[in-house]
Amino acid sequence: MRGGTQRSQHGETSEALYLSSGFVYASAAQGEARTAGDAEGYVYGRFGNPTVAMLEDRLALIEGAEACQATATGMAAVFAALMSQLRAGDHVVASRVMFGACYVVIDELLPRYGITSELVDGTDLAAWERALRPETRCVFLESPGNPTMAIVDIAAVSALAHGVGARVVVDNVLGMPMVQCPLALGADVVVYSTTKHIDGQGRCLGGAVLGSGDFVEGELVPFMRTTGPIMSPFNAWVMLKGLETLELRQTRMCETATRLATFVEAHPAVDAVYYPGLPGHPQHALAMRQMSRGSSVIAFDFAGGRNAAFRFLDSLSLIDISNNLGDAKSLATHPASTTHQKIGADARDELGIGDGLVRLSVGLEAASDLEADLEQALGAATDR
Ligand SMILES: Cc1ncc(COP(=O)(O)O)c(C=O)c1O
Repeated sequence: MRGGTQRSQHGETSEALYLSSGFVYASAAQGEARTAGDAEGYVYGRFGNPTVAMLEDRLALIEGAEACQATATGMAAVFAALMSQLRAGDHVVASRVMFGACYVVIDELLPRYGITSELVDGTDLAAWERALRPETRCVFLESPGNPTMAIVDIAAVSALAHGVGARVVVDNVLGMPMVQCPLALGADVVVYSTTKHIDGQGRCLGGAVLGSGDFVEGELVPFMRTTGPIMSPFNAWVMLKGLETLELRQTRMCETATRLATFVEAHPAVDAVYYPGLPGHPQHALAMRQMSRGSSVIAFDFAGGRNAAFRFLDSLSLIDISNNLGDAKSLATHPASTTHQKIGADARDELGIGDGLVRLSVGLEAASDLEADLEQALGAATDR
């Protein structure tokens, strides 16, 4: 709520928005000293900004990290976290179930730069063990994985990765801040799309990378300053406001998600439900060891495939059809035709993303209203 605040001489209660691309020096010598890092003070918007710094400091406190770098989007966070530490000849191992754009970065983009990558079933520790090798520099995983909510044992995979000297990068978007703390479980770096729960009200794109001071200051910051995918001060200000209600919103969303997952699981129109908070989830026990709640996202499968899924989506009257998640408004997604369209049918098969799969991001509407909307749309999905 308050950590990291840099209150100005005006004594404002809400954090100040420093919408400035540059900063002036009192003298030429001061400019030289700040640029060399020998004097405190801001230099240029791409290198740092007081509003962005407030967000970074607060996020680091929340995550229990030594340092944080905010980024323009979640994908900028993922890409910078990897590219700032990888070199040609390095090897990356990643858990297969992940957001479509992350999959493209690992599977297509990294190999273009001579970095080999290998995708494994993240739930299978023996598969991680087989894939890790001395040249593995980085392990990347999302848990729960978007969109099938598969759970990776973060502590066990971190121990295996550290055995070969690799760093573990966790995309904690679906784990959610405070609900799952990857650094405390042994991971080295955490990335967020702050577009999701941290803004949480569908306004701005943003991202963050958190880790040790050595990694963030020594490797990531120089990469970010030169390549430039930084967060705007305006977006940082919106995210700071989002952080003030983050815990309240997440708690409510997860409680409603548990109720809706239980409801959907019992509905005859649905073939399978994937929600780590349900006892029927194959990794429920592990999920509850490493997460304090079951997440705000539910996935479920229609045996009737794409037609049933589309009938369901088109019948929703309160819940919107959209790609985003973590919003105050509940949003439903058909991953195969949207977020995971680009990876192709074969990759989707490997990830377990069928044409009947729907992802539901649970928002802050009354749980009874959401349940009523699901009930009528599930009924419509099986009508024909
Ligand atoms: C798990 C996960 N990681 C990363 C991203 C990318 O975030 P952004 O859209 O802010 O770039 C998303 C969603 O878009 C996501 O769901």
